[in-house]
Amino acid sequence: MRTKGLKIFAGNSNRKLAEAICAILEIPLGHARIEKFPDGEIDVKIEEDIRGVDTFFVQSTCPPVNDNLMEALLFADAARRASAERITAVVPYYGYARKDRKDEGRVPISAKMVANCMVSAGCDRVLTMDLHAAQIQGFFDIPVDHLYAAPVINEYFEKLKTDKGIKNMTIVAPDVGRSKVARGYAKRLNAGLAIVDKRRVSGEETEVMDMIGKVDGQVCVLIDDMIATGGSIVDAAKACMKFGAKEVYVACTHALFCGPAVERLKNAPIKECIVTDTVPVEGKEFDTLKVLSVSKLLATAIRNIHFNESVSLLFKG
Ligand code: R5P
Repeated sequence: MRTKGLKIFAGNSNRKLAEAICAILEIPLGHARIEKFPDGEIDVKIEEDIRGVDTFFVQSTCPPVNDNLMEALLFADAARRASAERITAVVPYYGYARKDRKDEGRVPISAKMVANCMVSAGCDRVLTMDLHAAQIQGFFDIPVDHLYAAPVINEYFEKLKTDKGIKNMTIVAPDVGRSKVARGYAKRLNAGLAIVDKRRVSGEETEVMDMIGKVDGQVCVLIDDMIATGGSIVDAAKACMKFGAKEVYVACTHALFCGPAVERLKNAPIKECIVTDTVPVEGKEFDTLKVLSVSKLLATAIRNIHFNESVSLLFKG
């Protein structure tokens, strides 16, 4: 029986999101000290009693990926040794997700290895959002609640459609892998669907081969799970314009914005770039960027997990 309530702690990756979640749930953010030794090792100290407490730790494994991941693992270990009743890793952005299978010889399955580490460290549950590949849920032998940012993004575009009287909206997947997700958005927004035929040239460069579907004269909304270097989304936006789009919006859950991303996005034919706050963008803002908060979705999920209520209503994207 859970008698000692719920506490939420934050790592250094996204304290602002953790604070927003706590504000919604009307509880204070728990005190934990997470610092570095001079040699770079991470040191964690939970500074309040969590014996018998339902403990949540909010940490996106965004850049600096390895430090943020290590903070999460060390926090879980500390919480387990401090006799937390249950430890839930709230990972709004789950990094190391790209390698989810062996697509060539002698490579790791990084997404599985990280899942193993989290379970071994002491996590009892995971709450995450828009995994790069939904099957990563199965890499954890503990319960995973996988939320979608879609309700928040859909609400934004529903309003945009109404406010601007847009009748010709087309959702565009920037590659074939994202087409199923894009189809979901197209259905909910009563919009058309198109798919960019993209080839990846290197980690930073992509090449657009063709456009599947009609974008001519359309208000296009490119949907992706993450923007890293911006190569995929910017090339896709240019392709939409080349194939006759009226204007292009971008909607993406995880704004990693690494390397040349901000410069690329600033100079791209993109009317608005909509992202969420799963990853902080402070210091990387630009004029067309709009940040939507997923704090309410995460707060509701945490509340429901704590009270053993259904989370599945929130899965509806
Ligand atoms: C690809 O499968 C992903 O969904 C993203 O499109 C990709 O990882 C984004 O990376 P970048 O911004 O570097 O092109």
